[in-house]
Amino acid sequence: MLDAPGDHQPVSGEAPTVAQLHDFARRVAEDAELIASLPLDPEGRTWVRLDGPGGSEAWLIGWPPGTGTGWHDHADSIGAFFTAGGELTENSLAARLPTDGWRTLELTEDVDRVRHLATGQGRAFGKFHVHEVLNESMTEHAISVHAYYPPLPQIRRYSRTGDTLRLEQVERPKDWQ
Ligand SMILES: [Fe+2]
Repeated sequence: MLDAPGDHQPVSGEAPTVAQLHDFARRVAEDAELIASLPLDPEGRTWVRLDGPGGSEAWLIGWPPGTGTGWHDHADSIGAFFTAGGELTENSLAARLPTDGWRTLELTEDVDRVRHLATGQGRAFGKFHVHEVLNESMTEHAISVHAYYPPLPQIRRYSRTGDTLRLEQVERPKDWQ
């Protein structure tokens, strides 16, 4: 899916590529000491902000059993994430959606994709990627590393009822920083 990103770091002022975000998330996910430093809370998700490459927005996230994000996208940010502990499930839509000017969309039957990302597995994604990420384990925490560029200007949140996707809320950086 991706060219070997190697160890190239973006020079100052150069936007990081999706391969570089993918490489960063993979390397951080392999950093056992950093992963172990994340506080875990059985009651809810935990977050630590990281410095991503080239000014990207990066996060270390802890997921108690049964938690998830709900459907959302990251507007025109590209990104990548890796599972650093436990296993995550990603449900995503293999469809190019209109970016603005709609409230509900009826999806066709063939656009749903499911990925199970065990420890050490991850993925990259392009602009307007719509997904939800879940820890479906009943017993185990999951931990993951995420990187986005440009830093998230907004997150659009959707509800999903059958084939209908409905825009519910737009969050701005002040909502999560
Ligand atoms: Fe996301």
